[in-house]
Amino acid sequence: MAMFDLTGQVALVTGSSRGIGYAAAQALGRQGATVILNGRQRATLEAAAARLKEERVSAHVLPFDIADPEAAAAAVTQARAELGRIDIFFSNAGVQHREPLLSYQQQDFDRVVFANLTSQWALAREVARGMSEHGYGRIIFTGSITALRGRRDITAYTAAKAAIHGLVRQWAVELAEAGVTVNAVAPGYIKTELTSRLWNDEAFNQWLFDRVPQKRWGDPQDIASAVVFLAAREAQFMTGQVMVVDGGMSSSM
Ligand SMILES: NC(=O)c1ccc[n+]([C@@H]2O[C@H](COP(=O)([O-])OP(=O)(O)OC[C@H]3O[C@@H](n4cnc5c(N)ncnc54)[C@H](OP(=O)(O)O)[C@@H]3O)[C@@H](O)[C@H]2O)c1
Repeated sequence: MAMFDLTGQVALVTGSSRGIGYAAAQALGRQGATVILNGRQRATLEAAAARLKEERVSAHVLPFDIADPEAAAAAVTQARAELGRIDIFFSNAGVQHREPLLSYQQQDFDRVVFANLTSQWALAREVARGMSEHGYGRIIFTGSITALRGRRDITAYTAAKAAIHGLVRQWAVELAEAGVTVNAVAPGYIKTELTSRLWNDEAFNQWLFDRVPQKRWGDPQDIASAVVFLAAREAQFMTGQVMVVDGGMSSSM
């Protein structure tokens, strides 16, 4: 059997109508997994699923808002009832709010931390319960390079992503005997809708390329490759790790 073959496995990817999540779902599907696409809008999810089906990927849609833990848990129960189990969970959907620290409103801080940390914890725990019953699972959270290096105006996002990096280590310990590995990918700057206002900003590109040794933006596929590795049976001995995928940015002075 070829390495990283995921035939027969079921993968749920949150925030997969576009961007990193879509690329990861596509990559997992190309390795043979049945993929469940999530986002808040059924229509965009169905369009994404149709594109994947054109390349013979088995794709289902599961619309819910990750910031609504009750709706998310109900959706996971529904997916398990329909597909039997979830083997791979890529907790990818996230939100951003930019504002200087001294004028950052506490309600914005609470909202961003709730979506990027509390809700991720609640949904992944729901998924982990099913994985523990089956004695197998791969949980992959999405961290960020901003949890490793300071960047202005994103205090809530940074706090939540740094907490995700800590959570990965704690969950890896707690779920190891249940056969579940827990890791995170920490993307650098990736060309997606989330960063679209920066692509053509000359000053930002100058700032970025001065710091990224490869002198380029990341593509969603750069993250998808890391997700496939962490999702594979062959990554069994890798748990509690944050895999930074940033073109060398966090290694450079
Ligand atoms: N791009 C980067 O440079 C970068 C760097 C570091 C970390 N990240 C992290 O990578 C992850 C994906 O980012 P991306 O750049 O791929 O973003 P993106 O292109 O904006 O895509 C976001 C995806 O998440 C969905 N989504 C947004 N809010 C949601 C919610 N509340 N519930 C369910 N789905 C939701 C969106 O669909 P709908 O809007 O239709 O719901 C879409 O499918 C995020 O956690 C982000 O923080 C990105």
